[in-house]
Amino acid sequence: MRFKTCLKINLNKLKENYRKLRELANSNKVLFVIKSNAYGHGIVPIVRFAVTELGIDSFGSASLGEAIILRTSLPDLQFDLYVFSDLEFENEYHNRHLINKRIIPVISTIRNLKLILESDLCKYIPLCLKFDTGMNRLGIKYAEIEELITLLKAHNKSSLFHVMSHFASSSSKITEDSGNGPYKQYQQFKEIKKILIQNGFTIERSSMANSGAIEQKFALEEETHIRPGLLLYGLSSLNKELRSSSNSNWSGENISSLETHVIDFYKIKKGDPIGYGGPLSPRDGTLVYLAYGYGDGLLNFYNKLKVEHCGFVGEIIGRISMDLMALLFPTEAHNHFNAGDTVLIWDHTPNKILSIADEHRVIPYEILCGISDRVPRVYTLS
Ligand SMILES: Cc1ncc(COP(=O)(O)O)c(C=O)c1O
Repeated sequence: MRFKTCLKINLNKLKENYRKLRELANSNKVLFVIKSNAYGHGIVPIVRFAVTELGIDSFGSASLGEAIILRTSLPDLQFDLYVFSDLEFENEYHNRHLINKRIIPVISTIRNLKLILESDLCKYIPLCLKFDTGMNRLGIKYAEIEELITLLKAHNKSSLFHVMSHFASSSSKITEDSGNGPYKQYQQFKEIKKILIQNGFTIERSSMANSGAIEQKFALEEETHIRPGLLLYGLSSLNKELRSSSNSNWSGENISSLETHVIDFYKIKKGDPIGYGGPLSPRDGTLVYLAYGYGDGLLNFYNKLKVEHCGFVGEIIGRISMDLMALLFPTEAHNHFNAGDTVLIWDHTPNKILSIADEHRVIPYEILCGISDRVPRVYTLS
């Protein structure tokens, strides 16, 4: 475990993001997506804060294991906990966890629905159905609705706890007249709900909007819930062009800053070899070693990373090592470094981490989820 290098998480920024989200979507309840260790921020502290300080009462994880950790770690807190995908309904041991830990499985196939309805243990679980409205990932298909209705009726089920669907692409511009993906998907979702209601089913909750849709105020009015992930951690999920043309209604801040420190620094000359494999320095400069490497999640892929310190910009040079990386700063920066100085790889400005993502052609989700366990998550209120 690192000591000084850490992902610092400011919980008051999460609070402020939540306030802004409520302004944006004031008629919807929030199902906070905390997949993959709350997008790398640590599920238990994030959920504890979200329940006790923000009053959020529904969370969605992807795996049963994470859901069990949450229930075991926060036994006194009341909240609904959905598991989206990593489910094994054939497994009795697994199903017992669903019951004992009050976990709501998101049912995405007719096959799994049958298993639930035919299981003595699970047949009274609140039914949460996910529909595939064109993404071709997980979800009951539009063409299967008749079969679904027949199956539910055969088991005397007329009440659906939650129906949901997911957008394939809400990071691009959503417009009614272009008839593009999200718009068509949402039309189909509304049609599915209508058919279910016409067939006598009651729907307690429904949701479709994730961050990109929420930012564009799409799929909000008719649904009881929204399912934000990235947005609450402070980042827009819109693509770069859309963000910069101010199509986002989001003004939240990144809840995390990624901090590391200077291990060593010295002046080098153009042509000096640097680190493993000995690539040559393209110019004179100050070589600065930071305590962050691929063992922390910074794969060599991130070779365009730039870091600022005291107004100087350093760029990665040579191969990133397991425990450290070298940055080449201008020679004049030398007087501004001390061993042990804290250096921020990103700060709370959303643009910093978003530009790292853009520059490396990844999405910010990947960067956050890639931070390894060796990096401590430190929680602050300021
Ligand atoms: C089913 C579902 N809903 C909502 C979300 C949240 O998405 P975002 O982080 O873009 O808001 C995800 C994210 O993976 C998801 O899989």
